[in-house]
Amino acid sequence: MPDGPLIERNPAAIRRAVLEATTSGRRVGFVPTMGALHAGHLSLVEAAGDCDDVVVSIFVNPTQFGPGEDYTRYPRTLESDCRLLADAGVRWVFAPPVDALYPDDDATRVTVDGPSQRWEGEHRPGHFQGVATVVCKLFSMVPATTAYFGAKDWQQTVVVRRMVRDLAFPIDIVVCPTVREADGLALSSRNVYLSSEERQRAVALSAGLSAARDCWQHGGDAATATAAMRAVIGEQAIDVDYAAIVDPVSLEPLSDSTQGLPAIALVAGRVGSTRLIDNMLLS
Ligand code: PAF
Repeated sequence: MPDGPLIERNPAAIRRAVLEATTSGRRVGFVPTMGALHAGHLSLVEAAGDCDDVVVSIFVNPTQFGPGEDYTRYPRTLESDCRLLADAGVRWVFAPPVDALYPDDDATRVTVDGPSQRWEGEHRPGHFQGVATVVCKLFSMVPATTAYFGAKDWQQTVVVRRMVRDLAFPIDIVVCPTVREADGLALSSRNVYLSSEERQRAVALSAGLSAARDCWQHGGDAATATAAMRAVIGEQAIDVDYAAIVDPVSLEPLSDSTQGLPAIALVAGRVGSTRLIDNMLLS
């Protein structure tokens, strides 16, 4: 059993440790998470292994959950997460208490307008403001060289990249591919909420995305590919929030004449009471 990571709860201490590493010329890779780690997170940790040291934050961020969302019941599994991270050779786990990030009189929020507005932004008002705010705080507490995010939260990666550019954060962003179960379901900490019957039905999300990709790659236009995606998902009575073919950077819907340009299919839907998102690059 490898030595475990150092578990740090204090922002000043993690900042000091990471700064000491980077000023001595080490590259530090940072994987921000909300815990409940699965193979998707571990693939980010593995990618961060390109750096000399890896730091993983575990913090269930209250400001990115809307009223009535699953903040209180979000899985919190710090002990088993730390065991996984020990096996993965992580040097530090940063697991701050809520008041270290949000003191009582906290009054500051980060808003990234353009890419936050559509899709998840419409269905979860305030979500990306919460994400941008916490990632901004985490980047200032963990001054790493490179940060790693999963492509499953595609819109989040666009928002984070824009924030890093606009606020000139001295950090590189790497986006890693979505990890899927053998049947295609994207790994998500929220999959634990699914009953076995819902788990079967949830596969329709990735199957729908694959149908859109096949249609697109065979010359279908955005409307036809979207219809193919909705048809597959519709067979499983999933309550769809959105299913769209968009530009991967601007997130604007593609018109029918844009075949040949980069495109990504985005989907969000409720399987029972569990809301899942997924996406697939089409080109
Ligand atoms: O993707 C996540 O797990 C979260 O949104 C993040 C980036 C850790 C911010 O809380």
